[in-house]
Amino acid sequence: MLRVQPTNQIKGTIRVPGDKSISHRAVMFGALAKGTTTIEGFLPGADCLSTIGCFQQMGIQIEQKGDRVTVQGQGWFGLQEPTARLDVGNSGTTIRLMAGIMATQPFHVVMEGDESIAKRPMRRVIGPLRQMGAKIDGRKDGEYTPLSIRGGQLQGMSYESPVASAQVKSAILLAGLQAEGETSVTEPHLSRDHTERMLQAFGVHVERDGLTVRVKGGQELQGRAIHVPGDISSAAFLIAAVMMVPGSSLLIENVGINPSRTGIIDVVKAMGGSLELLNERVVNEEPVADLLVTYSRLQGIEIAGDIIPRLIDEIPVIAVMATQANGQTVIRDAQELKVKETDRIATVVSQLSKFGANIVPTDDGMIIEGSAKLNGAVIDSMGDHRIGMAMAIAGLVAEGETVIENDEAINVSFPGFAELLQRISQ
Ligand code: S3P
Repeated sequence: MLRVQPTNQIKGTIRVPGDKSISHRAVMFGALAKGTTTIEGFLPGADCLSTIGCFQQMGIQIEQKGDRVTVQGQGWFGLQEPTARLDVGNSGTTIRLMAGIMATQPFHVVMEGDESIAKRPMRRVIGPLRQMGAKIDGRKDGEYTPLSIRGGQLQGMSYESPVASAQVKSAILLAGLQAEGETSVTEPHLSRDHTERMLQAFGVHVERDGLTVRVKGGQELQGRAIHVPGDISSAAFLIAAVMMVPGSSLLIENVGINPSRTGIIDVVKAMGGSLELLNERVVNEEPVADLLVTYSRLQGIEIAGDIIPRLIDEIPVIAVMATQANGQTVIRDAQELKVKETDRIATVVSQLSKFGANIVPTDDGMIIEGSAKLNGAVIDSMGDHRIGMAMAIAGLVAEGETVIENDEAINVSFPGFAELLQRISQ
């Protein structure tokens, strides 16, 4: 149980844990590469530890101490058939990206995870992989876990994805790396492009043409050193806290600012918030900066269209921030929220309503009235890390104590969240 008290001010210079998306990919690509990969700034959260566990079960030597990881890659076909099911825990990125990798392997695996994973749609990945020739099955004709995969020789293809999903795009591209001929994925909007960037860092040739990414089959990865920047999705909770508590300011160092992830920065600025990027640099093909965030009275806005995939994971905390802005905030085109760790339209609305916020769900988003007076509440994370953290941030401006039940979910992406919040709250 996490107890949160209202705070007078947020101040300090901090770092947030490593980027979740980049940490997963560093372990996976390291395991598939030839030679050693060292990772610094790795996120030792439950999701990324699930990825490590899966590759260890397939015979890959991986040593992890805090945020440092060493992976002894054996080449793409150096994995061994596991003797037990692979457990992906709560991690959608693990199961969906690995589905693409497993589809190329000359053996059989079964993958499954927790109760949340069992409800999440898998056919968006399984469907195109089957079209490439993969033998994959699962409950409800491959829609749900457990997934059973017998890999083999695949055919390259051109896939038009109906959703802007980096997990779908990555699974197909990874399968394409060992398929016959060329594989391309075209998305309706650009989703995060960490796979494309990191594959290049591992020596793979990747072509981009607008919303289409293309790879040729038969490419090998070469092990290397990877530095993972701080996760902008984790920084988002603290940015929101600063924008809600008058007089606050924070310097958040070493945050990844890949343009496919920076919707939160654009939204904060569009709402009138002061957010400066300092010390911009590029590390392993990924742009990084220090973020200087200063309290500003925000204005409600409309958030829709192309920006949605660039801030999809930040919507729970954007909704919280919007309760303290002037006027109304409307979020549209975000139906993907329904298939995250929880149905985040439903869980954001149900939990934020407990504080007395004026928020209503819509088919593809939510409408939030600003200038709300929040009252401390007893919240359930519903097993969703981002719901737990977003509601803890609401607790900073609520009157009285807020209690977050099932707060252990926060470890999925932000170990040390409660301690960090305590340290910067004056
Ligand atoms: C992720 C992609 C996104 C995001 C998730 C991480 C990734 O999911 O919500 O937290 O690392 O590729 P979708 O691909 O389902 O949009």
